[in-house]
Amino acid sequence: MPGQWYNFLPDLPGPVPEVRDSGSPSAAEIAEKVRPRILIEQNGTDQKWIPIPEPVMERLRQCGRPTPLHRARRLEQHLGTRARIYLKREDVLPTGSFKLNTAIAQAHYAAEEGRTTLVTETGAGQWGMSVALAAKMFGLRAEIFMVRCSLEQKPYRRHYMELLGAEVEPSPSLRTAIGRKILQDTPGHPGSLGTAISDAIEHALGLPGAAYLAGSGMPHVYLHQTLLGLEVTAQLAEHGEELGVEGRGDHLIACSGGGSNLCGLVGPHLRARADGADLRFLAAESTAAPRLTQGVYAYGRTDLGGFTPEVLGYTMGEDFIPPPNHVGGLRNHHSSALVSLLRHEGVLDAVAFDQRTALEAGRLLLQTEGLLLAPEASHAVAAAVEVAAKARTERREPVIVVLASGAGFLDLQGYHEVLGDTREAQVDT
Ligand SMILES: Cc1ncc(COP(=O)(O)O)c(C=O)c1O
Repeated sequence: MPGQWYNFLPDLPGPVPEVRDSGSPSAAEIAEKVRPRILIEQNGTDQKWIPIPEPVMERLRQCGRPTPLHRARRLEQHLGTRARIYLKREDVLPTGSFKLNTAIAQAHYAAEEGRTTLVTETGAGQWGMSVALAAKMFGLRAEIFMVRCSLEQKPYRRHYMELLGAEVEPSPSLRTAIGRKILQDTPGHPGSLGTAISDAIEHALGLPGAAYLAGSGMPHVYLHQTLLGLEVTAQLAEHGEELGVEGRGDHLIACSGGGSNLCGLVGPHLRARADGADLRFLAAESTAAPRLTQGVYAYGRTDLGGFTPEVLGYTMGEDFIPPPNHVGGLRNHHSSALVSLLRHEGVLDAVAFDQRTALEAGRLLLQTEGLLLAPEASHAVAAAVEVAAKARTERREPVIVVLASGAGFLDLQGYHEVLGDTREAQVDT
């Protein structure tokens, strides 16, 4: 396991566009109140390698890092491809997703600063579960605003958080002014990551000793997730693989909501690509919020309460309400500045899948490899299936790395509702 995080900000294809921050109080002032200081510093650091504090290392090891890199040979055989498909298995972490990597780091910094409560938002609940566990590890309280439709679809994630002592509140929330306003303007609003971020920041602002933790979208979150890309490089070497061999069309693929599993995988490889490696980066998003494939590149906020600055990014617009599907982690209306920059500069390709196509890919992975992934991660699998099919037609033999960002056991209801009785849909293995 790497002992340092890799800061890829200097490797971006251009400067990150200025934010617009004219509110009163400004988003920067709000951030200074609610975010641990070191995390704000990590957002803009130019230090290349950042040592991981020992208490964080210890807990990451205890949780099973480094996670395995799994060669999906049966899936390859089923697809009839000579591509070599590898899955980076973040689903094996105790909370069932990669979100734990940054939750532990952020909780450590919050505790070190003397904060007593972690406040955050969560979509499908994976991030909330990770914050609840990280809070417990460092002796902190946790209060978590969970998107209402996801909370109704996935009550078990709430139960997990509550077992750890966390308080879970549906978003839009009646406890905040912004939540009440959203519900007044749009009665029955199903909630989205935009509503939940707003609820969480407003609540943290009014709670003494609170730290607001972001699950995605921010450079410090991406930094903590670079463990993914760093481990992949080392593990591929153990398989005798090197990424970026000319003419092969190697791919790194991840689903993208706020962009953290994607940036964690891709970030450490940006320099190699800029230096000419034949390496493609592919974001798989949901047609429920197809910002990178259909959005416009414009200034906007990731929350609805005006607590975050306006950033230039691919967006569906602040009025967009993503349909309440089972892919809670990809239902963002606005893409982060960094992911959008990669896309705008042509470094990142993107593809969108409806939930049925994605969950069918998830089912195929279960039937071939025996792995049940979260619906979000199944989008990345669907993308890999497409890339492998294209490589077969073009007679290429790429290495394809897919980020298996989370486990799907608590999403089985969603699989069932979308795919129905699938006894007819069995593949030979
Ligand atoms: C399992 C899983 N994968 C992916 C995501 C998307 O997040 P991000 O785009 O920040 O990687 C989420 C978000 O909740 C998730 O729970």
